[in-house]
Amino acid sequence: MKLFDKKKNRRNSNSKKWDRYHSKDILPMWVADMDFESPVCIKNALRRYIEHGIYGYHSEPKELRDTLKKYLNKKGWNIKKDWIVLTPSVGAPIYSIYDLIPKTSQVIVPTPIYLNFLKAPKHLGRKIKKLPMKTENGRLIIDFKKLLSTARKNSWLMFVNPQNPGGTVYSKNEIKELAKIINKKNITVFSDELHCDLILKENLKHTPLGSIKEIEKNIISFYSASKTFNVPGLNCAFAVIPSDKLRGAFKKNAQGIIDDANITGLIALSSAFSKGWKWRDDLIKYLNLNLQILLKTLEKYQNADPIIPEATYLLWVKIKNPKQKNLQSHFEDYGVGINDGIEFGKKDFIRINFATTRQNVKKASKRIEDALINL
Ligand SMILES: Cc1ncc(COP(=O)(O)O)c(C=O)c1O
Repeated sequence: MKLFDKKKNRRNSNSKKWDRYHSKDILPMWVADMDFESPVCIKNALRRYIEHGIYGYHSEPKELRDTLKKYLNKKGWNIKKDWIVLTPSVGAPIYSIYDLIPKTSQVIVPTPIYLNFLKAPKHLGRKIKKLPMKTENGRLIIDFKKLLSTARKNSWLMFVNPQNPGGTVYSKNEIKELAKIINKKNITVFSDELHCDLILKENLKHTPLGSIKEIEKNIISFYSASKTFNVPGLNCAFAVIPSDKLRGAFKKNAQGIIDDANITGLIALSSAFSKGWKWRDDLIKYLNLNLQILLKTLEKYQNADPIIPEATYLLWVKIKNPKQKNLQSHFEDYGVGINDGIEFGKKDFIRINFATTRQNVKKASKRIEDALINL
């Protein structure tokens, strides 16, 4: 476990997460990156690239598509290699996808949701239909009945699995139930599966939505090494689009607007997905212990009600906020930089990123206690 306990100063290292509070004693637990070094396999692969010294226009690593095909095969989805479209991020397509969605189409966005799914339509002046999620047995999930009654024929759906900010991992049965609705209403889905390798509970498994044969052609799925292996700064992700028509439209639209994935990101992706899994298993153990520390702290306070995440390193907590304080500022006043739930479309919630050293988590727990006592 020493690996993740290693203290690494991220101040003055061009870290968005840490620079927000560069001269303040505030522990940053907001944006979703981790305070851990990436696995050695990534560092070695990047070192080889850096040492070469010539950084010209790149082609993709030869073995990459085979690695990605194998990766999805293990998750029960047999894809064709030419269904893969490399992208610089998942964030960029969250915006650019609207070029493919007719202006008259209904776009359903379950809330709360990763903030860019709310920012993009606002920025683009596009209407969306928000679908509030429900909490059932301590899990934040889409209300499938509501989805069925809300969706029109040929709607679009923004789907995040594992969910951010709630950390839900949809079960195979839930995926099948969703697939039935997709089939019935001919819904096209933007399926963001970016966090799928960060499942915290051993008995849970990720089911790619696209692996359900009957709806395969309706799904545009997104994956990346960025969250699991902590390389979001290297700008690389990939889409899997089985429909020739959708894939063609997506690629045509991306030309000249969304640039190619970065070569350093492609190298990291290729090496992580072939050699990084043992490191990932150790990471999951470390994250689970961090989570336990935070949950133990929160359970002492009536004004904090967490959703226990099944995946991700993000903890979504309902806060009793009788004085309607600005939650971000309030927690900052006590030395912790969290995300206010309002960013994800839900007030009186906070999101805590617990992917940091145990020492920081312990320190943060004390500060969170003080913040809760003084709400
Ligand atoms: C669910 C989800 N989708 C997309 C993104 C953005 O991914 P990228 O860094 O590839 O743009 C994030 C980042 O936190 C996320 O949590």
